[in-house]
Amino acid sequence: MKPTATKTISFHLNGEAVETSAAPGRLLLDYLRRDLRAVGTKEGCREGDCGACTILFGKHNAQGELIYRAVPSCMLLMGHAQGGYVVTIEGLRVGKGLNGVQQAVVDCGGSQCGFCTPGFIVSFTGFVLNGTEFSVEEATHAISGNLCRCTGYVSLVRAAAALIGGLPDLPEPGLERNRRLVEAQLLPEFFGREVAQMPAEEIGGLPSEAPFVGGGTDLIVQRGEAFNLEAPRFARDLSRKPAIRVKGDELCLPGETTFEELRECTLLGKWWPTSRTDLERFASPIVRERASLAGNIANASPIADGTAIFLGLGADLVLTGAGGTRRVALGDFFHGYKQTELQPGERIASLRLPKAQTGHRFHFEKISKREYLDIASINSGLGIQVRDGVIDAVQLSAGGVAPIPLLMRQTAACLIGKPVNAQTVLEAVPVLEAEATPISDVRGSADYKRLGLRQLFFAHFLALFPNEVDEGQLMEVTR
Ligand SMILES: Cc1cc2nc3c(=O)[nH]c(=O)nc-3n(C[C@H](O)[C@H](O)[C@H](O)COP(=O)(O)OP(=O)(O)OC[C@H]3O[C@@H](n4cnc5c(N)ncnc54)[C@H](O)[C@@H]3O)c2cc1C
Ligand code: FES
Ligand code: FES
Repeated sequence: MKPTATKTISFHLNGEAVETSAAPGRLLLDYLRRDLRAVGTKEGCREGDCGACTILFGKHNAQGELIYRAVPSCMLLMGHAQGGYVVTIEGLRVGKGLNGVQQAVVDCGGSQCGFCTPGFIVSFTGFVLNGTEFSVEEATHAISGNLCRCTGYVSLVRAAAALIGGLPDLPEPGLERNRRLVEAQLLPEFFGREVAQMPAEEIGGLPSEAPFVGGGTDLIVQRGEAFNLEAPRFARDLSRKPAIRVKGDELCLPGETTFEELRECTLLGKWWPTSRTDLERFASPIVRERASLAGNIANASPIADGTAIFLGLGADLVLTGAGGTRRVALGDFFHGYKQTELQPGERIASLRLPKAQTGHRFHFEKISKREYLDIASINSGLGIQVRDGVIDAVQLSAGGVAPIPLLMRQTAACLIGKPVNAQTVLEAVPVLEAEATPISDVRGSADYKRLGLRQLFFAHFLALFPNEVDEGQLMEVTR
């Protein structure tokens, strides 16, 4: 597709209004470094993996306050910046010296060659702006998407402790907190200003076949430089935080909800009590700030974690397009490898979770080569309802064992009406193994994946029913 004439892109950079005719598909990282020569933001992997390019990106919350979060600028296109607020390492300078975050890193010997340092400083700044618990553990979590090749992490953890020790009392994230941080010389003055929301209108009058971008974390990696020449369409209002809400009996999750927003959502606890810790195994904090729910599902990867989770939770999708709005069960959404129910021009508007029944339990498991910061080799979610000791309803998902994310209908049918015990679980194993059709690839042999799926199946029951399901009996089959 040829580049389409576009409007000027307007956004705020380090507190100043900027206008540019840069292509909407150009990486923000390239615009900063190559066009503006703002080279404090470093270029490492260009795939969201190293954190060298981390910047702050602002979104307005429901109260109209601008909330800055740390994100990788290699996972943002210029069209994403439209109407947005961007802060780079250059914009964090306080007066002529170092700010308090930088000083803590210097004092603790947290920088050697310095290549990764701006990224760490920005991620630490994201932490002081948004943290709800100021512990070294939480600070370490906030920088877990940033890699350092030479200093080692011990001095950075020391810097985290020094930073936390020097923080003033802080209110909830928002303007008041920003002002307190400005007073403490941790942030420059412009963070304390009120900022109106800029219109985040669509860029260019684009045809419906133009690639549709959510957070871009899959598409940018898949298409790379090709986006420079294309004119992507962007998910609607990207500068506002989406409203997750209970509607009737259902939980309604807007498609553009990011995985970090999901992780922070307390409403979800009724459906999925361990969401906060489970989602720590989804990418890194900075990538989760960009990765959307709809993008995870529409990308139709057989190993997408969000898809496995929401299949297990029995979600429906609300699709919207020129033909109107319709509702589809997530279990019916995938037709074949990378083929989905979506019609041209149609998009996922939201996900709906059915009413949370008393006694409903959910568990998610993921096998990956590294425990954290890695995509799954196999994943699975189990949603289960037990009444009077008997299994009443089951939603079991399996990722990485077929060309599409599977809803394991036959295995579920084999469990329903039976008591919860090891015998029931073992009786379902042959059905589970027959329902999965894994192939051998870089993430493991077919045998390994089938075995892995069985172990995840056991793990679900052991986690959810430790008193009813005898571990020893399950382990017998592994001997
Ligand atoms: C470093 C890194 C680590 C990652 N780790 C994980 C991981 O641990 N687990 C995991 O599951 N994934 C992981 N991912 C993959 C990715 O982050 C997720 O799949 C993410 O949720 C995709 O969402 P997005 O908004 O970025 O999608 P995009 O890249 O914007 O889009 C992906 C696809 O979805 C389509 N799309 C986007 N929004 C909509 C919509 N509303 N309606 C219809 N179609 C839409 C796009 O057209 C495109 O085809 C990782 C990616 C990176 C770069
Ligand atoms: S360059 Fe590595 S995360 Fe962006
Ligand atoms: S200080 Fe050299 S990579 Fe971190």
